[in-house]
Amino acid sequence: MTDESSDPRPSADSPVVVVANRLPVDQVTDPDGTTRWQRSPGGLVTALEPFVAGRGGAWVGWSGSAGAAPEPFESGGMSLVPVPLSEQEVDRYYEGFSNASLWPLYHDVVEKPEYQRQWWDAYVQVNKRFAERAAEVAAEGAIVWVHDYQLQLVPAMLRQRRPDLTIGFFLHIPFPPYELFTQLPWRGAIVEGLLGADLIGFQQPSAASNFVALARRLHDLRTLGNTVSYDGRTVTAKAFPISIDVAAFDQLAASPEVLARAAEIREELGQPEKIVLGVDRLDYTKGIGVRLEAFEELLEEGVLEAPATVLVQVATPSRERVEHYVTMRETIEQQVGHINGVYGSISGNAVQYFNQSMPREELAALYRAADVMLVTPYRDGMNLVAKEYVAARGDLAGALVLSEFAGAAAELKQAFLVNPHDISGVKAQLVRALRIEPAEAAKRMRAMRRHLFRHDLDHWANSFFDSLKAQA
Ligand code: ADP
Ligand code: G6P
Repeated sequence: MTDESSDPRPSADSPVVVVANRLPVDQVTDPDGTTRWQRSPGGLVTALEPFVAGRGGAWVGWSGSAGAAPEPFESGGMSLVPVPLSEQEVDRYYEGFSNASLWPLYHDVVEKPEYQRQWWDAYVQVNKRFAERAAEVAAEGAIVWVHDYQLQLVPAMLRQRRPDLTIGFFLHIPFPPYELFTQLPWRGAIVEGLLGADLIGFQQPSAASNFVALARRLHDLRTLGNTVSYDGRTVTAKAFPISIDVAAFDQLAASPEVLARAAEIREELGQPEKIVLGVDRLDYTKGIGVRLEAFEELLEEGVLEAPATVLVQVATPSRERVEHYVTMRETIEQQVGHINGVYGSISGNAVQYFNQSMPREELAALYRAADVMLVTPYRDGMNLVAKEYVAARGDLAGALVLSEFAGAAAELKQAFLVNPHDISGVKAQLVRALRIEPAEAAKRMRAMRRHLFRHDLDHWANSFFDSLKAQA
């Protein structure tokens, strides 16, 4: 993002305020000491940024680096209101409680969550700071929309300070069943924090009913359908599956520049017969190792040959100081090295691996160049990459292999669905996707695109806002 204004305007009267752990831009410091802003990683920012920018709202969030927060500033038609985090808070609130306790717990304990009391104390303290900042910038009677697992205490903290506000909360990741959630030593406080909202949005209906059941069983609250009676109010828990700006992505992917780049990518890869693509944050929930394993076995069996078939894996660095992320990165890089050592040749590697973030235009070109998109998370709230791939394929070519455990599988039913725990199943579906007839590919892609165009980002945000206003 390049259009920051130098005139810092502390937005003291915003009618719509978004509160999320991260601002849509990250402050990065270059080796020469100069600082600049770049787009923040992840699906939350992808989805929310066009929504807030289009409405001129305020966005309260962290700048991505420890220390004093910059002054509020205008960027991309939004008022950005930075919240400071100290080094210790980054360690305990962000890397600790948010990403080593909650993240694995909410993703089916794919890795073992760790619970530390000091982390929890920092989580409470930082949630309070976010609530205070949101209370300062919201106009009388404003709508405040709080996002994701890092800020689950904010709704109640905000209501206590500003009872005039209408408060919505949206959880971008899965919400676990009672049997898992109740591991959390501070489970009661989290449920009460969320119940400060008027409307709690989830990605899937099962997550919303998990929450309602929890409120009933844990707090003995009266529930009726998808509502909970709490503190003299009615709180609604409902599913609003998130989406992307489908038309914008479709247009980007069909632009002459992106099409030319897609052709160039094929060329640079040595004109392989088939390109298989993975695009993820480097996260252990995404099942990157599973796809490497499936690909390697198919090479070993001679079902596929490299470099006639090449796997391109783009993995954005993520949460690089959290232990599970450090070990998974080593494992993935070893796997890639091993596959290339055995199956690569002078004329090309079997796996092209990029541990870097890429511009959206480059991702669009990769989507357009890929014959098969592999999306194999063990658990994922939605997975916007799957939706971006479908949105990019206005040519109706290409095939999507998608995990049943991604929220997107409930909508993209014509994908080649797989259970990522079943390697043989993943291999079989990958081979089917690679061998699909163009007419069959077009039929599947057309149906998925029809669904996506009807369920885009505006549809998501408008249905959440309409429900929230009805609740107020
Ligand atoms: P998550 O929110 O867990 O990261 P999603 O699939 O929902 O997963 O969203 C990821 C977002 O990040 C998508 O918009 C995707 O395009 C973007 N992204 C993923 N990998 C990269 C990358 N290497 N470079 C740039 N953007 C990326
Ligand atoms: C997911 C989460 C977001 C988070 C993003 C990137 O999309 O739902 O809340 O911002 O990943 O992760 P990071 O830890 O870098 O913010």
